[in-house]
Amino acid sequence: MASSSEEKKITTHTLQEMKRRGEKISMLTAYDFSLARILDDAGIDVLLVGDSASNVMAGHETTLPITLDQMIYHASSVVRAVKRALVVVDLPFGSYQGNSKEALNSSIRIMKESGAHAVKLEGGKEVKESVERILSAGVPVMGHLGLTPQSIYKFGTYVVRAREEDEAKKLIEDAHLLEEIGCFSIVLEKIPASLAARVASELKIPIIGIGAGGKVDGQVLVLHDVLGINKEFNPRFLRRYMSLYDDIKKATEKYIEDVKSKSFPNEKEQY
Ligand code: KIV
Repeated sequence: MASSSEEKKITTHTLQEMKRRGEKISMLTAYDFSLARILDDAGIDVLLVGDSASNVMAGHETTLPITLDQMIYHASSVVRAVKRALVVVDLPFGSYQGNSKEALNSSIRIMKESGAHAVKLEGGKEVKESVERILSAGVPVMGHLGLTPQSIYKFGTYVVRAREEDEAKKLIEDAHLLEEIGCFSIVLEKIPASLAARVASELKIPIIGIGAGGKVDGQVLVLHDVLGINKEFNPRFLRRYMSLYDDIKKATEKYIEDVKSKSFPNEKEQY
């Protein structure tokens, strides 16, 4: 359903209500003004300015290189486009793990300089103090457990997480901890569907899945994957809705042909 400008803005409270009444939450990543405007106009509930910008916007192999300044640039572009969606911004690698004061300062910069509505960070018990300190300043926090791409060099691979009992147990404990200390929602990435379903049923806060099955409270995907701008990334959990790589390539080839053949611009396309 498309949104209208009169429609109420989505807040963290709205998401809790949606979970309570069993309405699924839709979330996509966004990094720039033009696409964020289309997604918001289409009625998306949450826009995540993900640190996946490091991959899809900047071409890095991992999410680690992106900086706080770069995240703020992307976030402020998205915020300017949005009338309805809740805008959540990833705290980039190195901006919150050092100590809780650094985490707070990074979050305050994001909120002040971009106008976003919440931050997201990766991890459970290890980041407890940082999450508490950010929350104490009134900044809403979304957690992120399971496959946490900022720890890729610890994991060594992007395979499904928490298949083993120990890791699953820690994930459940971390999810409860994040809820207890006040996170408004948690992303669960690439874990068994049965484990994600258990977490979603035990917790009151909304659980948003990516590669975590359908029995959670909402879904998130990376926009460039959904639109088929990336051809190389084909995980099982991804559903592509377009093949923009091919369409953009074809359009570009046609434009080049028209320029070279002098058919562009024609008489009507000039002054
Ligand atoms: O950065 C990102 O795009 C994310 C999603 C995969 C949840 O964190």
